[in-house]
Amino acid sequence: MLNDTKRNEAFRQAILHAVREEGVERVLDIGTGTGILALYAHEAGAKKIYACESNEIMSQIACNVFENDKLGNIVLLKDHSTNLSVKDLGDAQVDLIVTEIFDSGVFGEGVLSTLIHAKKILLKESGRVIPNKVELFVVGVDHVGIAEKQESINSTLENSIYLKNTTLIPKVDGPYDTYSSAGGGDHLIIRTERAHAFTVNFNDLQSMQEADEGQLDATVQLRCSEGGHIEGFIVFFALHLDDKNVIANFDETPMTSEITKCWDPVLFRLNEPMEVRKYQVLKATVSCRGGVLNLKHEYDPIDERVVAVDPELYAFLADDEYLYELEYNVIKLLKKNKKKFVNFADFLTFPHIGINLLKEGEIETLYCPEKTRDFVEKISDWNCITKGAIKFVQDLEDFLENDIKLDIILMQPITGHGTLNEEHLKHYETLKTNCLSTSGAIFPNKIDLCAKLIHSSWLQQVTSVQNENLQDCSIPTQMNEYSTRHQFEFKDFDSSDLSDITTIAKIHFDENFHQKDVIINLNMVRNQINGILYYFKIFFTSNSIPVLTNRKKSFCTQNCFVQNFDVAKDRTSVVVRCIQDEFVFRCEILENTS
Ligand SMILES: C[S@@+](CC[C@H](N)C(=O)[O-])C[C@H]1O[C@@H](n2cnc3c(N)ncnc32)[C@H](O)[C@@H]1O
Repeated sequence: MLNDTKRNEAFRQAILHAVREEGVERVLDIGTGTGILALYAHEAGAKKIYACESNEIMSQIACNVFENDKLGNIVLLKDHSTNLSVKDLGDAQVDLIVTEIFDSGVFGEGVLSTLIHAKKILLKESGRVIPNKVELFVVGVDHVGIAEKQESINSTLENSIYLKNTTLIPKVDGPYDTYSSAGGGDHLIIRTERAHAFTVNFNDLQSMQEADEGQLDATVQLRCSEGGHIEGFIVFFALHLDDKNVIANFDETPMTSEITKCWDPVLFRLNEPMEVRKYQVLKATVSCRGGVLNLKHEYDPIDERVVAVDPELYAFLADDEYLYELEYNVIKLLKKNKKKFVNFADFLTFPHIGINLLKEGEIETLYCPEKTRDFVEKISDWNCITKGAIKFVQDLEDFLENDIKLDIILMQPITGHGTLNEEHLKHYETLKTNCLSTSGAIFPNKIDLCAKLIHSSWLQQVTSVQNENLQDCSIPTQMNEYSTRHQFEFKDFDSSDLSDITTIAKIHFDENFHQKDVIINLNMVRNQINGILYYFKIFFTSNSIPVLTNRKKSFCTQNCFVQNFDVAKDRTSVVVRCIQDEFVFRCEILENTS
C-alpha cells in the first residue's frame, strides 16, 4: 500500500490543494496507519492535525514516525474515530477530514459508519472530506484459471467416481473473492461493457446513510462485447479524492501487472462457466448492506448441484498429476502383491484413491480423516458404497491405540500451504513401525526440499516499504522493522533466477531438530537476493519418479523465504542454512560466508 506511489501522490495533491488553496487549518486523519496522510497535511502547512488510529501496533508506528520526524503539530489519538468527541479535537470541529480506510470491497473497513459519525460530530458544517465520493462499476469476465481447475477436478473425479452432476466450487470466505492482477498464470478476459452501479458521496450524509442502510441496490445491464464464456463479475471502483485526483483499482485495458496497486478488484464467481453470445445482455444487482458489498445474479445452477468445498480440498482435487501418479504407484503394488488389501488408510486431504479402490472392490475397509466426512459420505451414497466400509479417524494418536494392521497408508507430510503437516510427521514413523502389515507400504517414501535463489522487485515491494518518495520521512524504517522474513506465498510473479534449482535438504519424518548448511552456486547475474523459492520433490516409493510441487496445478502453493541479501560482484556462491525444528522449517542465507 505504501509502495503505491500513484495512490500516495493523488492523496498528497488533494491534501496540498485543500490546505493551500482553500485555507484549511485543522485536519483530522482517520485511520492514520503509519501517519502518511497526516504527514502530507503537515507538509501542506496545516496548523493543527489530529491523527487517529485504533490498531495498537499501527498507532505505535505512527507515534514513532511523528516523534522521529519532529512533527510537533500532529496529535496522535490512539482510538477508533467513533469513540472521539469534539473534546479530543481541542474543543473544536475540524475543517477537513482525510481518510483512506478502504478495502477491495470499498466499505469493508467500516468507512460508512466511520464517516457518518465523523460528519455529524467531528466535522464543521462547512468542512469537507477527502475523498469526496466513490463510484462503483461492474464488468462480466472470463477467468481462464478457474475453468482449467474445474476441468482437472472433473477429470480426476469423474473417471472413477459418480458425482451426480455435481459442480464443486471452492468455498469463499465472505460474499466475494478478490482478483489479483499480479497473479501471473490466470488470465482475465473482459466480456462485457462496463456498467455504472452506484455512487456514494462522502460529503453527503444522506448518500452515506442510504448506502449503509442498503437502499442503494442497483440493477445493471451488461452487454456482452463478444461471445464466449463468463466466469464471474468484477466490481471495481473509482475513488474521487477531489475534482482532479481520481484513483481506480482496475482498468479495462489489457491487464498489466501493476504491482503497487493498493486494492485488488472484487470478483464474484459464477458456480459454473456460462456461455454467452455477442450483444447478449446480462443483469446483475449490486448492493451494500451494513458495509458489505454484494452482487446477485441468476446465472448459477440450482443449489443442490453445487457443493462448496474447502479451498485446500479444491486445489488438492485439481492436482490430477499428483493423484494419478500416486494411484499408479498404489495399484502397481497391489498387482505385485496379487492379493486383496484389507485395510487401507488414506489420510490425504481427500481420500479419492481409497474411495476408488473401495468402489472397485480392491479393499475391504477404508480409514480416512474425520474432517472429510461430509463430502465422503455424500460420495459413498452416490456410489453405493456400504456405509460400514468407511471408518473416519478423528485423531492419529487415538488411532494408533487400536492395534489395526494396515496394508497401505497414504500420508501427506506437507500441507497445501507449503508448510509441514505436524500430525503426519509426528506419527509417520510409529504408523510405519507399528501399524503396517508385513507386505504393507506407506506413501510417500521420501520428500526432498528443492530451492533456487531469486531476485524479485515484486517480492521486495510486498514485503517491505521501498518507495523513493518516502525517503525523507521515517515511515520506511519504522515499517520495515515489522517486515516479514518468513514463508510467503509466491505465485507466478516477475522474478529472475540467480541460481539453478538445487536439492537442499530432506524433510525428516520425525520431531527432532535438524540443521544443514548447503552451498548454492550463483549464476552469472549478480543481483540482490530477495527470496529462496522452494518446493518439494515427492517420492511415493523408493524408486518411483518424483512428483514436484512447482507445477501450476500443484495442490501445494509455491512459497519463498524472504531475504534481503546484497551480492558482491566477486561472489560466486552463498551458504543457505536449512532448519527443521518442531514441525517448522526455514531457510536463510548465512551472511558472513563467501
Ligand atoms: C488501509 S490502512 C491506511 C493507513 C493510512 N491512512 C494510509 O493511507 O496508508 C487503514 C488504517 O485505518 C485504521 N482504521 C480503520 N478505521 C478506523 C477508524 N474508524 N478509526 C481509527 N482507525 C481506523 C486501521 O486500523 C488501519 O490501520
